[in-house]
Amino acid sequence: MDAFFSSVQECASHVTMFFVALILISATAVAARWPGSVEYPSSGQNSFDITKFGAVGDGRKDNAKEFKSAWTAACGAGSKNATIVVPSGTFLVSSIEFEGPCKSSRVMFMISGKIVAPPKEAWKEKSRDVWLRFHEINGLVVSGNGKGTIDGQGETWWKKASDDNSRPTALQFSHCNNLQLRGLNHANSQKNHISINGCRGADISGLSITAPEDSPNTDGIDISSSTNIYVRSSVIATGDDCIAINSGSSAINITGIKCGPGHGISIGSLGKNGHTDQVQGITVAHCSFRRSENGARIKTWQGGSGFAKNIVFSDIEFDRVENPVLIDQFYCPHKTCPVKPSAVKISDVRYTGLRGTTNNKEGNAINFNCSKTVPCTGIVLENIKIQLASNGGGLAKASCNNAQVSGSNGLTCREKDFVI
Ligand SMILES: *[C@@H]1O[C@H](CO)[C@@H](O)[C@H](O)[C@H]1NC(C)=O
Ligand SMILES: *[C@@H]1O[C@H](CO)[C@@H](O)[C@H](O)[C@H]1NC(C)=O
Ligand SMILES: *[C@@H]1O[C@H](CO)[C@@H](O)[C@H](O)[C@H]1NC(C)=O
Repeated sequence: MDAFFSSVQECASHVTMFFVALILISATAVAARWPGSVEYPSSGQNSFDITKFGAVGDGRKDNAKEFKSAWTAACGAGSKNATIVVPSGTFLVSSIEFEGPCKSSRVMFMISGKIVAPPKEAWKEKSRDVWLRFHEINGLVVSGNGKGTIDGQGETWWKKASDDNSRPTALQFSHCNNLQLRGLNHANSQKNHISINGCRGADISGLSITAPEDSPNTDGIDISSSTNIYVRSSVIATGDDCIAINSGSSAINITGIKCGPGHGISIGSLGKNGHTDQVQGITVAHCSFRRSENGARIKTWQGGSGFAKNIVFSDIEFDRVENPVLIDQFYCPHKTCPVKPSAVKISDVRYTGLRGTTNNKEGNAINFNCSKTVPCTGIVLENIKIQLASNGGGLAKASCNNAQVSGSNGLTCREKDFVI
């Protein structure tokens, strides 16, 4: 934590110096392009402080209109780098969409203060998909310098789990290529905290995401239909998956994540309602799981099709995790689901350098529960040492059904298991 915050601060001071320089350089450039015109209230600079647009950080005034005006000005400014500044203060903002493409080649959001959602009662629409949405923006940078906070006030939404479909995602990036998201605190989302959808190229780092352990569906980061996504050096403690990687994702690199409480880092669920889902090229490395329900999990529904392949979990530490390693091809969280002949095919999954403790009731650190008709193939276990957290701390076991498992120096499937 300490190392992480000092690096964020170091980064912040570079960014500050950078802006001072940038403002000086660009003031002349903008003035030269539009002589005499004042298009926005920042005297020709390419910094757009939301308070200059009338936003008030008193926690009461709804600033959606002012944020939108600042966005329109920055996005349309046509400068090389346009920066929207959210200074300290508590800025209430109702649901809003920041749309691109922008004329400015890079738009930055520098958040020092707190952006909060209205409580559920104050939302005008009964249901909303997203609270803060960024759409079709290339080269967007959203940075909190380790201080900025985005708070969904989810506690006003969580009372009934049945409200699930009407609860919004707190922050969504859809079709944003070359995105950078860093140094922000995300708290108490209405549903999931962050959704990355249809993006090519993202560097996500230095986030702290927190919601109570019993808050419903408050996933940390959900990734879907995206490629070349890098998530690193972040702390995630919520009521659901720390990170979920869903259909259409490839080249995803997750490293240095502290997860827990929560439901682990999950691939899926895939193949719901007979869907064809595809996930490939996933690396999860140098991560730790503390008191989470799951660790490294792959979950698929019966009756789907497609694949999840070329997946590596490496250098992972578990601390009292219920299911450290899980492949569940019978995923069915609510009602009973009929067993079907088709399933999402799982292959080439390597687990290497896994250690720590489990409090699994059956004493299993590993559970590969694969479909009989579409077995898991190419599963490799290397250097696995996971012990029981209680009962004297003996070595945990592995349970394997319809899985082709190989490997050395670690846990192997029990002889009585059905191993292909
Ligand atoms: C705009 O900002 C980016 C990211 O900080 C930087 O790499 C780039 O050089 C800047 N461009 C200009 C013209 O200052
Ligand atoms: C993921 O990122 C780590 C850390 O930068 C790097 O060492 C590793 O090569 C990357 N893995 C892939 C598959 O890109
Ligand atoms: C595998 O999944 C089936 C179907 O949900 C379930 O009945 C069984 O208990 C699971 N096996 C293990 C070892 O978890």
